[in-house]
Amino acid sequence: MDQKDKVLIYIWLGIGVLSQPVFSDGWTATVVKDMTALVSSCVVVPCSFKYTGANRPTSRLSGIWHFKEKPKENIYHEDSVKIVDNFKGRTKLLGSLGEGNCSLMMDQVKDHDNGPFCFRIEIPTHDQYSYVDECVRIAMLSQPLKPTLLAPKTATEGEPFTITCSVMHTCPSEWPSLTWSTGESIITYHRNHGLGKWETLSTLTLLPQEKDDHSEVSCTANFHGGKTSSERFQIFVKRKENIWYIIVPVTVGLGTAVMFGALCVLMRKKYKRQIVELQTRSGNSMWNRFSRMSRRFNSGGSEPGSASTEQRQ
Ligand SMILES: *[C@@H]1O[C@H](CO)[C@@H](O)[C@H](O)[C@H]1NC(C)=O
Repeated sequence: MDQKDKVLIYIWLGIGVLSQPVFSDGWTATVVKDMTALVSSCVVVPCSFKYTGANRPTSRLSGIWHFKEKPKENIYHEDSVKIVDNFKGRTKLLGSLGEGNCSLMMDQVKDHDNGPFCFRIEIPTHDQYSYVDECVRIAMLSQPLKPTLLAPKTATEGEPFTITCSVMHTCPSEWPSLTWSTGESIITYHRNHGLGKWETLSTLTLLPQEKDDHSEVSCTANFHGGKTSSERFQIFVKRKENIWYIIVPVTVGLGTAVMFGALCVLMRKKYKRQIVELQTRSGNSMWNRFSRMSRRFNSGGSEPGSASTEQRQ
């Protein structure tokens, strides 16, 4: 190895040393910094992280969560002896460290669990790092939020009527359950709003009858940990605009008209016959005379004898 090669080696080494800070930028984490949690329930803090060097399997990584101000106080450690008493048995890593997932689940949330808490990775024979720029602070809710009810203003008698009940929460590992005061075809689903926020929804479909007008339906959210909240809704049922409401009166009207018409025709025939009979029976009756008189008056003096035959036409 001559002098020139040695210089080249030193240059390469120099570049290697200089580029080290660039590599250390690989120690990054993304943590949702502000979260809300319901006391007694659970909270899941989304977290992902990166480190330098080759990817390692979960078994070669040790994930820790600790207080930002007191790095020695762990709220999660795989060795439970190293967890402060208050958090023992209440914290868990969800997801897999090997995939860079450091999401933290905290159960039985207490009103002083505010943090801030930071994630720390320890990689045996490599390095360790606390991501103290990305820590989570948790705001506590002592009472749950009320569910929100969504429905059209009015229901129509006998037609499906759908009401949706939804509630926001931060405990996706134990969904809140939504229950209705009246149970008919119910569908439940969940929506991820990102940043650790979740929504659980339930839709109820009813077939309201007239008697259900002004009745109340309520939806109760039962959160993990036992807290509940509920909301009510009053149903206004509109009578169905049925085609029978048109058909029935029209039919009745037409029927009456036809019957009345038929009756008139029958009556006319009957009386006509009676009149003719009367006229033929007594040619010189009062009626005949009167009839002939009116005829003469009308036609201006035509043959009086032909009156009875004319009437028969
Ligand atoms: C991390 O793990 C949690 C729990 O299993 C999962 O819900 C979440 O989607 C994972 N995050 C990523 C970025 O994969």
